[in-house]
Amino acid sequence: MQAVAVFPSQKKLELVDVPQPELQGPNDVLLRVREVGLCGTDREISSFEYGSPPPGSDHLILGHESLAEAIEVGRAVRSLKPGDLAVAMVRRPCPHAECRPCRAGRSDFCVTGDFTERGIKGADGFLTDYVVDDESFLVKVPRALADVAVLVEPLTVVTKAVDQASAIFSRLPYDTGPQRGLALGAGPIGLLAAMVLVADGFDTVVYSRDAEDSKQADLVRSLGAHYASSTTHTLESLAQASGKFDVILEAVGFAPLMMGATQMLKRNGVLALTGVPPEAATAELNTGRALRNLVLRNEVVFGTVNAGRRDYLSAIQNLEQFLVLFPDSVRRLITHRGRLDEVPQMLTHKQGIKNVVEMSRAA
Ligand code: BGC
Repeated sequence: MQAVAVFPSQKKLELVDVPQPELQGPNDVLLRVREVGLCGTDREISSFEYGSPPPGSDHLILGHESLAEAIEVGRAVRSLKPGDLAVAMVRRPCPHAECRPCRAGRSDFCVTGDFTERGIKGADGFLTDYVVDDESFLVKVPRALADVAVLVEPLTVVTKAVDQASAIFSRLPYDTGPQRGLALGAGPIGLLAAMVLVADGFDTVVYSRDAEDSKQADLVRSLGAHYASSTTHTLESLAQASGKFDVILEAVGFAPLMMGATQMLKRNGVLALTGVPPEAATAELNTGRALRNLVLRNEVVFGTVNAGRRDYLSAIQNLEQFLVLFPDSVRRLITHRGRLDEVPQMLTHKQGIKNVVEMSRAA
């Protein structure tokens, strides 16, 4: 079978032939991959800035946003049967006994850094026809979500951020009531964040560099949210025009905007950062004012990466809700479906919002 792999030491990305995997243990599931979403992390890996092959291998099979169909299950598997759809979790625990998060099934909070991530760090991904995975890393997806379930993994970035933000809000000694939310960025994560905010009843604004008449801006308005373009508004003018926000979900990875976002928080507000800026990025900031505000206004800024099983389950519930609230908008997030041999092209020339590789269709 074919796969798309990156060879970091030779700086090349190409289609490779790999043997079809087989069940090894009683908890294994053999899956036929249906779809794989591409994201900024895949683009970074394929430009050799990030990612690492499995130990002893010179290449890494790409792809971590998966949707697959179970074909064969090991004898101890209980949660999946052949024909079921599943999304695979990306991160896998480190081997160290002292890592309490990994031992508790929350490798997204791994403290040693020795975790692996399928398709990203030390483990092959899903851009191939068949994969084998342990049942404990697979999350069953209802058939009714089949055409959008490839969005589950990117949505988990948002559901984890929202779960963490709610935990922080729960420290407040009063009911926060209806709130204002800001999504920074109108890529897949920013737009999914806007959908979660709208579905949760937030008065929602999306701020991004796309023009006011872009596809992204239209999609935002179709949710009943407001769109503000950085081509016409600075963050400050946005705050003056529309007020500040209780919760901000950042999904841009542009350091000056990430730092500047702290100025958009209302008192007691929470800013979740999910974007990953280049290490060398710098940003000008009046640190005195920013730190004074954090303290004097009880603000919280936190970073969040990856997701646990509960975040996958929330993502599935959210997608079900989106398909009732704004079915066309959620489907419009996927702007291009291509074949495996088109991946190199799709990674260098992104079309629209979310690009998905179509591997197989179920019978
Ligand atoms: C993936 C996460 C992963 C992160 C860092 C993101 O693109 O969605 O699962 O933890 O990259 O590698």
